[in-house]
Amino acid sequence: MTATQAQLEQEVQRRRTFAIISHPDAGKTTLTEKLLLYGGAVHLAGAVKARRAQQHAVSDWMELEKQRGISITSTVLSFDYQGIRVNLLDTPGHQDFSEDTYRTLLAADSAVMILDAARGIQAQTLKLFDVCKQRKMPLFTFINKMDRPALDPLDLIGEVESVLGIKTVAMNWPLGNGVTFKGVYDLHEHQLHWFERGEDRRGRADVTRLSPTDPAIKEQCDSETYRNFIDGVELLEAAEEFDPQMFALGQQTPVYFGSAANNFGVQLFLDQFLSMAPLPGLRKTDAQPVTPQEERFSGFVFKIQADMNPKHRDHVAFLRICSGRFERGMKVKNTRTNDTLRLSNPMQLFAQSRETVDEAFPGDVVGLVNAGDLALGDTLYDSGQAFRFEPIPQFPAEHFIRVTVEDPSRRKQFRKALDQLTLEGAVQVFWMEDSTTYDPILGAVGQLQFEVVEHRLKQDYGVDVRLEPMPLKFVRWLGNEVTNLQISRSTRPAVDNWERKVLLFPGQWDMDYAHEKNPGIILNALSTLGR
Ligand code: G4P
Repeated sequence: MTATQAQLEQEVQRRRTFAIISHPDAGKTTLTEKLLLYGGAVHLAGAVKARRAQQHAVSDWMELEKQRGISITSTVLSFDYQGIRVNLLDTPGHQDFSEDTYRTLLAADSAVMILDAARGIQAQTLKLFDVCKQRKMPLFTFINKMDRPALDPLDLIGEVESVLGIKTVAMNWPLGNGVTFKGVYDLHEHQLHWFERGEDRRGRADVTRLSPTDPAIKEQCDSETYRNFIDGVELLEAAEEFDPQMFALGQQTPVYFGSAANNFGVQLFLDQFLSMAPLPGLRKTDAQPVTPQEERFSGFVFKIQADMNPKHRDHVAFLRICSGRFERGMKVKNTRTNDTLRLSNPMQLFAQSRETVDEAFPGDVVGLVNAGDLALGDTLYDSGQAFRFEPIPQFPAEHFIRVTVEDPSRRKQFRKALDQLTLEGAVQVFWMEDSTTYDPILGAVGQLQFEVVEHRLKQDYGVDVRLEPMPLKFVRWLGNEVTNLQISRSTRPAVDNWERKVLLFPGQWDMDYAHEKNPGIILNALSTLGR
């Protein structure tokens, strides 16, 4: 093995790249902040907090974020902890931008699902979990807010199994909940981590390790809490064990209980997470799968972010490195365009700060200034035969609007803008097949995406538009040629921006009708970005 290969192998071995998924308010921001705190990245932890408080703060982030007090942009938080390079792919807090989260999951090697102990599985968790399931992604579960009145832990675990259809294995077990919550029992080391509730929630919690039979526990708990705890521990000691193979395929999820806000169970979780989380692995392509240890550099663009900072006024393409060593200034090829690009200004981004990156390795994410030559899903590589990583899935829009250009002389700019926004994955564009109008229908997974598009059209392209909500609910991509297509009167045939045929349905009845009248018709809910 050459020195370069040895370094590459070493760097791959120490990378852990993951994303956190949750329903809004379950505690994603809080857990992120606490993981950074325990990981020693205190400077980043402060920035996460500032970001959550940004609705009150004066920020020069995207105008829309300011106006709405929401966070749209997402970046990567990287820190070294016990020799491991942790890359936490941050995802937008608002569910209207969940498409961004779906794509970010493609760049991660594992995910952490946070549940609110009082609420269990919520709508958004379910949607995001589906993406992890499709990708067979290793998934950790953190059941948060145990310091509040919670559902029964066995019921919570049961719900994960029955609603999500994934096996669970409890890695720790809570002692009490709400005011009686005193700590968690680590099933691995057979020790209770007894926490002291401190005044200051920002620091590390004081932990005392006790044997579960220590009389001090019984003394300090009411009898019901103690009995429930002992029953739970006995039950779990006899329950299924952690199965590394099932975990690697996303078929079994290790479950942790805790309270992120109070720092209960966070360190325990972080330590076990880092010992179990997978390193960067194989990535499928249209040719041979790519291994991270390959000398050839390669990566793919999983996110394009516009206007992250009005001071810079540029777009950033986020590249997940999949193999080889990345070096500032290196020349790479883009499979889609066959162009050669020099990656002269790679950076790591967090909020308003940008740091130049000189080298990076598989599992890392770098931001590249995009002058329009990079699109979502692009494969970049530095040598050998051209190939493509798996295409980025396009999720079906759930909201539809008709968009009309106020000033017809701006139509050319409008078209250009729509092409660009489609390449960024910011919106889905549908053109009516049968219509005499130039006005397309835009589709989005979340309503707020339309506001971003309206804002971008005006600010970047000087195009004012009128938006009109459409009574449509579903888009389906036609998977086969159907002669004599029969559809309900209010179903609209259209093509997307890549000229693929779609049907836009106002409701379930109309979709059922299309199935009934056209036996054998294939209607796909998922498509891919690009041809
Ligand atoms: P999100 O990113 O998933 O949307 O959730 P976030 O972390 O912002 O948390 C949502 C709310 O839940 C916050 O309260 C947060 O403090 C609280 N929270 C998070 N973890 C815990 C926990 O373990 N226990 C309890 N009791 N609360 C928790 P907030 O009122 O919105 O904000 P603030 O009080 O922190 O300012």
